[in-house]
Amino acid sequence: MAGRIPLQVKHAMPLDRRSRALNDLRISVIDRCNFRCPYCMPEDDYPRDHRFLSKANRLRFEEIVRLANLFSELGVRKLRLTGGEPLLRRELPELVRQLSAINGIDDIAMTTNGSLLPASARALHQAGLNRITISVDSLDETTYRELSGGRGEVSEVFAAVDAATRAGFGSLKLNCVVMRGVNDDQVLDMVEHFRGSAHVLRFIEYMDVGTCNEWKQDRVVPSAELRSRIDARWPIHPLPANYGGEVAQRWSFADGAGEIGFISSVSEPFCGDCTRARLSADGRLYTCLFADNGHDLLGPMRAGANDAELATLIGAIWSARDDRYSEIRGVAGSPSRERVEMYEIGG
Ligand code: GTP
Ligand code: 5AD
Ligand code: SF4
Ligand code: SF4
Repeated sequence: MAGRIPLQVKHAMPLDRRSRALNDLRISVIDRCNFRCPYCMPEDDYPRDHRFLSKANRLRFEEIVRLANLFSELGVRKLRLTGGEPLLRRELPELVRQLSAINGIDDIAMTTNGSLLPASARALHQAGLNRITISVDSLDETTYRELSGGRGEVSEVFAAVDAATRAGFGSLKLNCVVMRGVNDDQVLDMVEHFRGSAHVLRFIEYMDVGTCNEWKQDRVVPSAELRSRIDARWPIHPLPANYGGEVAQRWSFADGAGEIGFISSVSEPFCGDCTRARLSADGRLYTCLFADNGHDLLGPMRAGANDAELATLIGAIWSARDDRYSEIRGVAGSPSRERVEMYEIGG
């Protein structure tokens, strides 16, 4: 790339025990959320006085940037900011500005519920955020309210999409978690709404993440079933992946009305290509969305570890990684109840 300083390779790029590189880092900037989606943070389990991380136990911006620099030296090219709800973290554009200056980072994205986006979309774009994904589980007012735990309104989703578009984020991704008997009857309405727009709607199979969503297999609507329902109304064709290990399978409308995606972690697991690491807001490194435990990086960092020591620690954690939960979900016996919560690592 013209004008870019060549990367100085200070550390060997680690491969895990299944020969997977470390290419993406998802950074949770806060464990709080202003929604209470029943599949993630059900209101009964997380009432208003629930104790989330204190400020002192959260990574500071300079600590996040220091770690992101080290991850980039170990091979990470993509960053994604998540939460909880990332926009609850004050001064987020400042963090984006600092992350976007890291040599080697090609792409910075954010996953948000969108409710707070109108206030900061422009500042985020100016700071160097490249892409935004907004969660939209329904366009029906009652269902949307129910799926946000009574905290969100569909009108706010439209406001978020508008604000992001006006701020310069051309094509957004819109994530819809599909649950049988809850919102699966609304899939065609959602497709109809976003077809022909610049945005890419993606249907996500409901996953057994965390410990409190009382997940049941019969609530999962396999992507193949959704595809055939959609195809019967608007014929669709598969598209090649944008990059190796892409989570979503891309499909396009035969009539030229754009693209949709399917994230099929339950029916068609993609662990074989999983190059994602996850950093929680308290500085733990998780090597899988379904991990029961994170590796503490904040402790060593605050105890004075230097960059070489931290990079060696991260490299060693990645090299020891053997995770492939989605591939063994069905055969693993009864899964551990100790499992990181979705809002701690942002999906
Ligand atoms: P891009 O391809 O860079 O746009 O990002 P993405 O699609 O990976 O990010 P996004 O946050 O939109 O992820 C979409 C959904 O896929 C979320 O519900 C994630 O929890 C899920 N997901 C992402 N990565 C993984 C993964 O490694 N394993 C599993 N099981 N699910 C994942
Ligand atoms: N299954 C599938 N997707 C989920 N998400 C949150 N919980 C689940 C679950 N149990 C999605 C959110 C958001 C992304 C970060 O993860 O809706 O789009
Ligand atoms: Fe918040 Fe996202 Fe969890 Fe919903 S899924 S409660 S928006 S972190
Ligand atoms: Fe990666 Fe774990 Fe998801 Fe498999 S289940 S794709 S290893 S995060």
